[in-house]
Amino acid sequence: ISLTVSRHGGNKSSPILYGVMFEEMDHSGDGGIHGQLLQNNGFQGTTLGLTAYAPVGDVIISQDTSKPVSKAITSSLNVAVPHGVKDYVGFANTGYNGIPVTGATYNCSFWMMGNYSGTINLQLVGSHSGSVHADHNLTVESTDSKFREFKTRFNTTYAPQGDNEWHLTFDGSKVAGSSLNFGLIQLFPPTFKGRENGLRDNLASFLDEVHPAFLRFPGGNNLEGLEVETRWKWNTTIGPVVDRPGRDSDWFYPNTDALGLDEYLWWCEDMNMAPLLAVWSGKSYGDILSGPDLHPFVHDIMNEMEYLFGNTSTYYGKLRAQNGRKDPWKVDMIEIGNEDDLTLGCDTYPDRFNQIYKAIHDKYPNITLVASHGNYSCLPSPLPKDVIIDLHLYRAPDDFVKLFDQFDNQPRNQSVMIGEFGCRNTSEETGTYWPYMQGSCSEAVYMMGMERNSDVVKMVAYAPLLQHFDFVSWSPTLYGFNSAPDSVTPSVSYFVQKMFASNKGDTIVPVESSTGFGPVYWVASKTGSHYYLKLANYGPEHQSIKVHIPETKTGKLEILAGPQYQGDTPSNVQIQTVTTSVFNAQGKYSINMAPWAVAVLAVS
Ligand code: AHR
Repeated sequence: ISLTVSRHGGNKSSPILYGVMFEEMDHSGDGGIHGQLLQNNGFQGTTLGLTAYAPVGDVIISQDTSKPVSKAITSSLNVAVPHGVKDYVGFANTGYNGIPVTGATYNCSFWMMGNYSGTINLQLVGSHSGSVHADHNLTVESTDSKFREFKTRFNTTYAPQGDNEWHLTFDGSKVAGSSLNFGLIQLFPPTFKGRENGLRDNLASFLDEVHPAFLRFPGGNNLEGLEVETRWKWNTTIGPVVDRPGRDSDWFYPNTDALGLDEYLWWCEDMNMAPLLAVWSGKSYGDILSGPDLHPFVHDIMNEMEYLFGNTSTYYGKLRAQNGRKDPWKVDMIEIGNEDDLTLGCDTYPDRFNQIYKAIHDKYPNITLVASHGNYSCLPSPLPKDVIIDLHLYRAPDDFVKLFDQFDNQPRNQSVMIGEFGCRNTSEETGTYWPYMQGSCSEAVYMMGMERNSDVVKMVAYAPLLQHFDFVSWSPTLYGFNSAPDSVTPSVSYFVQKMFASNKGDTIVPVESSTGFGPVYWVASKTGSHYYLKLANYGPEHQSIKVHIPETKTGKLEILAGPQYQGDTPSNVQIQTVTTSVFNAQGKYSINMAPWAVAVLAVS
């Protein structure tokens, strides 16, 4: 196959084409990319009870609703000490199926109430080995009149296994016959860019290496709520964590909301991603509100906008400043809902969309609004100018390849985005739920179809982003982890996303070819004199490709290749991209594509 890349012509390409989508699911946030490591730390939600807690020594522990830590954190842990106890006693928290201990300095805080003056001992202990990986004392003065917060830092020693517990103990002889209450316990390893209440460094850095251009959040289903009342509520995710009540989520476990609206936006700034914030559109899984019933919720969205954009003389702008962000946030895109073409959302969506669109657009005309589904018959007609339509596709590999030309005839005045996509093959053949070479290659083919049309396909996000392997309700994800220190497992798709997001020009350029598309697919782009040619070989034969890119001579060739089912379980991801330098004074390059390989040639 020979390909000649043109120096002229072609269409402009969206500068934010490749991004990611995040929602709290599979403990992607709590116990995942959000740094806090103790589970059920504020007894939020209605389903956890004493999950993750255990007594240490001769004590009785219970969830105590009679001693709330705050209006939001409505329970604390009561630790009752029987008469005659003389030892250090207290309680343990086992984290999210263990606590990763990396050898770094950890930050810890807890609230406490009850009469106690003396030493509190904190430890990180291997559940099975009994090895102590941190042992730290602090002195506290606590009374039974109100909760008081204590903060400390301590060094840890590396624990090779993740099965560690956090222990808090106190001198039982001083409390015997009585009890103490503890609440909102928090433990943080170093965070990404050192942010307070920030992201877990290794999981965040691993994502940063992909160079995603945007972040779509906070859902996904988790925006919607199983009921109206349990929808994601922006205003309960801001401010001090002790004032965040958390919620029963859509993904079967309570959310702490410690990763809240501001934290998402700091995350975007720290990784240089454009935020695509979704607002609730009136659709929950239990009920759908439209017409006048939606008015109070539209009002609430406008409060959220004031929180994002208002100056500090406004009520919500002032609140934002109090919460640590004086300048308005830079949010240029708002999505109205999530998958409103599913369930019963379709018929009322035009009304709900129009109400929210009008309210936001009238006050903030420069914001781009996104409609949350691709069923044109559920969209307002006419659709206001400049609205982007969000499509979601989870498909088997061959189906993605068939969609290579999906956008070739897209009307050029109607932009779209793929807010969620990923190969999700449930075939008996492989029984796989983790991205494997053929599936990731099909995603590459599909994305090349988008990149060719990236004047109208503005954004695409692989979804979902990540999972804690011990808490999976949806698979696969782009990468995953467990509680072992520094645990992070990429998928083959992770490497494809990284290659694609890191290598794209601002203009798509035509390619002359000796053959049509299939099994080899390609797309070329350039910025100035820098050229990027992406290639995928969606087939079982080797393919030899001769490429000519006039007026270039040097650069690199990155290839990702492996057997068809390579990567189909997290323990079977044994490939990496291989990068080689290339040089040819005439701009002629030979590329040998293994079966199912994905490649990027970047030259200038
Ligand atoms: O990404 C997983 C789920 O798939 C999302 O929550 C939802 O938007 C889609 O159906």
